[in-house]
Amino acid sequence: MLELKRLSKSYVPGKPVLVDIDLEIAARGITSVIGPSGTGKSTLIRCVNRLVEPTSGEILFDGVDLAGLSGQRLRHARRHIGMVFQEYNLVERLTVMENLLSGRLGYVSPWAAWRRAFPPDDLRAAFELLDVVGLAGYANRRADALSGGQRQRVGIARAVMQRPKLLLADEPTSSLDPKTSVEIMQLLADVARSREIPVLVNMHDVELARRFADRIVGMSEGRIVYDGPPATLTDGVLKSIYGGEAWLH
Ligand SMILES: Nc1ncnc2c1ncn2[C@@H]1O[C@H](COP(=O)(O)OP(=O)(O)O)[C@@H](O)[C@H]1O
Ligand SMILES: [Mg+2]
Repeated sequence: MLELKRLSKSYVPGKPVLVDIDLEIAARGITSVIGPSGTGKSTLIRCVNRLVEPTSGEILFDGVDLAGLSGQRLRHARRHIGMVFQEYNLVERLTVMENLLSGRLGYVSPWAAWRRAFPPDDLRAAFELLDVVGLAGYANRRADALSGGQRQRVGIARAVMQRPKLLLADEPTSSLDPKTSVEIMQLLADVARSREIPVLVNMHDVELARRFADRIVGMSEGRIVYDGPPATLTDGVLKSIYGGEAWLH
């Protein structure tokens, strides 16, 4: 599905943020990337859909190296990668439905998009998804009238509207309270499992990652230092990822 090969990134020459990352993401399941802030988690996820230019290495997505694409070919490849953001990235003054349909913008012609002439299938899918994410009846509500949890539900629905082959999420619950965080992770997990979409998600909350991920990738200083199931993420491993130990108990 997705394979990163010797992926490296330096924003400043000589100061690598990602160092030779090798990572293979299977066709299903939730992979959670954990690690201290500043360790390159966002950079990693943003390299995958080329919001950040990798310095070197390959990003094989369905056998095609995204690192070598540009223009229309990159735009087309990106349609198959949905993204969920920490701060939701909704268009605040548009309605929930308009935000959802923006997930289809990569597919309809600019002319159809300008006239907001989305195919009936897209509208049907959008209403169905609103129901799935628990926002039936919110179609015409403006995004700026929603709570954080509701916004993230829209963010997830919008990403799924793309009919993605892969979902990326960059700390999707960091702006939410603990209860809402669990609900949003549950929703992400449910949607991913029912639609068989693999998820690569950065998380700052280790317990939440343990609870929802099938696989945990621990990063430290731009390198992968752990890759395995939640069950073997021991205190010793956490110490190697985050350093110190006073915070552990
Ligand atoms: N656009 C950028 N320009 C320069 N440095 C950046 C940029 N984005 C991130 N960095 C630096 O790269 C490092 C990794 O950042 P980031 O990927 O955001 O880590 P994380 O998501 O794990 O907190 C940090 O030192 C950060 O300051
Ligand atoms: Mg980050």
